[in-house]
Amino acid sequence: MSDLFNFDEGRDQYAVMGNPITHSKSPRIHTLFAEQTEQKLEYTAIQVDIGGFSQAIGNFNASGGKGLNITVPFKQEAWQQVTERSVRAERAGAVNTIKFENHKLIGDNTDGVGLVNDLTLNHQIQIRAKRILLMGAGGAARGVLAPLLAQQPSLLVIANRTVDKAVELASSFADLGIIKGSSYDDLRGQQFDLIINATAASLQGKLPPLPDGIIATGGCCYDMMYAAKPTTFMSWATEHGTNKVFDGLGMLVEQAAESFYVWRGIRPDSQTIIKILRPEHSS
Ligand code: ATR
Repeated sequence: MSDLFNFDEGRDQYAVMGNPITHSKSPRIHTLFAEQTEQKLEYTAIQVDIGGFSQAIGNFNASGGKGLNITVPFKQEAWQQVTERSVRAERAGAVNTIKFENHKLIGDNTDGVGLVNDLTLNHQIQIRAKRILLMGAGGAARGVLAPLLAQQPSLLVIANRTVDKAVELASSFADLGIIKGSSYDDLRGQQFDLIINATAASLQGKLPPLPDGIIATGGCCYDMMYAAKPTTFMSWATEHGTNKVFDGLGMLVEQAAESFYVWRGIRPDSQTIIKILRPEHSS
C-alpha cells in the first residue's frame, strides 16, 4: 500500500470527492449504512483542488480504494475519466459513483434513481401517468431525466430561464418519453401533478418565475436542494396550496443507498437512516 492515503489496513476504503466538501453528509450517511449492514468499511471526505481531479482519483486507486462518490464540480469530469460507464451514467452525462474493480474505473450515476426512490417509496408519490414539471436544464436536471421518464409520466416539461437549453435537453431525451422544453411564461394556464426544482435558485434564496395556479389539485412540490429551513420554493409551494412539499434530504440518502448497493451488493434500509438524519439536519 502506498502512503498517499492513510488507510486502515482492515477496512475497505471509500470517499466522496468534491470542492467544497466540508459540509458533505455522505461520510455520516455511509458510516450509518455500514453500521446498519455490518459492513467493514471506512468512508471519508476528500477536498480536491480544481484541476487536480484526475490526479486525486489516480492516487485513490493506487492506494487500494474501492469506491468514490463524486460531487460538485467534478461529476462531468468523472464521466470523462472512468474506463466504463453504466447505461444510466452514459445518459446522465455525469458520474457520481465510481467502483474500482480489477484496475477498471466503473462509472455510475445514482442521482436519478435516488430522486425516484425518494418520491415513490418514501413519499408514495406516483409518477406514472402524471404531468411532471422539471425546473432547470443544467447537470442536476439532466441527471434525473432518464429515471423519471422510465416511470412513464403522461408528460414531462422542462422549464428553464434560458429556453434554448430546455428545448435542447428535451430533444436529447425524446426517445424515452413525452418531453418538451418550455419558458416559464409559456407555463401559464397549465397544471402539473409534480413540480421538481432542479435549478440552483434555492442556493441564492430565489424562486424561478412560476405562474399562479400551476399546482394541480393534490399536486406535489419537490426541491432537490435541502437546508435546515424550507427553501424559497418549498415556502412558495406551501403558500400556493399544497401540503405535499419535500426537500432533497431523502434523495441524498437514496442516491447514497444506491451507491452503497453498487459497491457492496447490499441495500441499506434508507428510511431508518433518514429518520436519524432529519433531526440532526434541522438543528
Ligand atoms: P447544476 O449542475 O446544479 O444543474 P448548472 O448546470 O449551473 O448547475 O445549472 C443551473 C440551473 O439553474 C440552470 O438551469 C439555471 O438556469 P439557466 O440555464 O437559465 O442559467 C438555473 N438557475 C440558476 N439560478 C436561477 C434562478 N435564480 N432562477 C431560475 N433558474 C435558475
